[in-house]
Amino acid sequence: MDRRSFIRIGMAGAATGIIAPEIVLAGSQGKNISSSDMAGGLFYTKESPGRWAKKAGSHSPILEKTDAGVRIVTGHPMKSNDHWIIKHVLLDSDFKFIAENIFDPNKDKAAISNFALSGQTSVVYGLSVCNLHDTWLTVLEV
Ligand SMILES: [Fe+2]
Repeated sequence: MDRRSFIRIGMAGAATGIIAPEIVLAGSQGKNISSSDMAGGLFYTKESPGRWAKKAGSHSPILEKTDAGVRIVTGHPMKSNDHWIIKHVLLDSDFKFIAENIFDPNKDKAAISNFALSGQTSVVYGLSVCNLHDTWLTVLEV
């Protein structure tokens, strides 16, 4: 491969990675999200905890379907002004924002959120954000 081809291919690869990561991921990951190159780095999952391997149990959000939508629970301490879950975010199968619940560690004693689901989506992604241990993701088929 000559130098010019190498540079052209490299630029195309870089542009694809910058412009299209959402397109590559959206709608095609579902239960396989933990095998994404971004799992364990950009975000963490129970299966890909990256540098937080010892934290998976208390940081991976638990998602369950309810009559009205989805409940997210993170079994994490809520120590005000020290260490707590900042918020839960719910995304649809295309990683589009549905809703979020921001916690007040001075008032909220547990990280529990109930979200209504009104639109059609095959899966939801639940995010749980810790103030010290980053963002954790769990997938639920709905
Ligand atoms: Fe934490």
